[in-house]
Amino acid sequence: MKTCLSLGTFRWCGWLAALAVAAPIAQAAAPSSRARVEKSSFGRTPDGVEIELYTLTNARGAIAKVITYGATLTELWVPDRSGNLGDVILGFDRLDGYLGEHPYFGSTVGRVANRIAKGRFTLDGRSYQLACNDGPNHLHGGPQGFHRKVWKAEPAARRGAASVRLVYTSPDGEEGYPGNLTATVTYTLTDRNELRIDYEATTDKATPINLTNHSYFNLAGEGDILAHQMMIAADRFTPVDDTLIPTGKLQPVQGTPMDFTRPMAIGSRIDQLTNNPRGYDHNYVLNSGGGRLARALRVSDPHSGRVMEVRTTEPGIQFYSGNFLDGTIRGKYGRVYPKHAAFCVEADHFPDSANQPAFPPTILRPGKTYRQTTIHRFSVQK
Ligand code: GLA
Repeated sequence: MKTCLSLGTFRWCGWLAALAVAAPIAQAAAPSSRARVEKSSFGRTPDGVEIELYTLTNARGAIAKVITYGATLTELWVPDRSGNLGDVILGFDRLDGYLGEHPYFGSTVGRVANRIAKGRFTLDGRSYQLACNDGPNHLHGGPQGFHRKVWKAEPAARRGAASVRLVYTSPDGEEGYPGNLTATVTYTLTDRNELRIDYEATTDKATPINLTNHSYFNLAGEGDILAHQMMIAADRFTPVDDTLIPTGKLQPVQGTPMDFTRPMAIGSRIDQLTNNPRGYDHNYVLNSGGGRLARALRVSDPHSGRVMEVRTTEPGIQFYSGNFLDGTIRGKYGRVYPKHAAFCVEADHFPDSANQPAFPPTILRPGKTYRQTTIHRFSVQK
């Protein structure tokens, strides 16, 4: 399995690829190598479209893998406190897994991430009906959302960073949304062990837009995330009805199990929640207010020592504790994913913003450019 062993200083990369199949752990690369991008094939869709896999490797040996199906992040290898690389996101080894039903593992989600009540909204006096795929509501762009599209990719490597830019044009009327919308997502892995995701979009008719990434993180690489310590820079959250649509209120977290203003184990108060299936699945109102890159959260795993800090331009974070995972999906390395096997922190605008005039707006108009940036920085603590 020494596929890229003939490339001089790149020898180590081939060795890791071989190791990664057998066991999801590897030693970090020597710091002398440079950031680079490699392209390979991830298989073909049933109608014969080739799906490309881009492997971004930074000078410290961290690795991010992205496929053109759903502009999906499939692997993310970062060091623990002993320098061992581990893959900290859930996903599948092969394209089949992503083509089948799955809860948005690593997906780019759009045109509008999160829920729109009853799939309906009114814009400039006209009503739109979107595809509903979550009980009565529209979720994550609909059944054929951006996570199901084949994106066009362009790799780029420069000093200190490896990146891949993916582009998708969503036609007018797709999943019920107005306007031809061109979206780009750029994943950049920097030598500071940051995974930076930049989004842009333009449209030819006014449309709601809300893009995010739906990676499922487990900083230990296995087990559950209940002992991870979470801190979210949010004094308020948006309470929801029983179909997870916001009531419109912004409620203080203080004195409730929703309070992560100081680091708390994710599992420490989860039993006090009353939703079904029980767990966090809530939008936090970031104190930054959005609009500029600002600190949103910090999460750490006491066992591996891995730390992830998130900064974003977005006003909200959907913190989801993997409540719908139930052990029926077999993912990478033959692992099954039980409840709370991972958490998602989806940086975006608030759910149902299209119907909530008091929430930060999500309407993109022709001539304007939508932008969002979210940075996940990985480090370690003792
Ligand atoms: C989001 C939602 C959850 C769930 C997951 C996917 O995080 O808020 O309710 O739908 O996506 O399973």
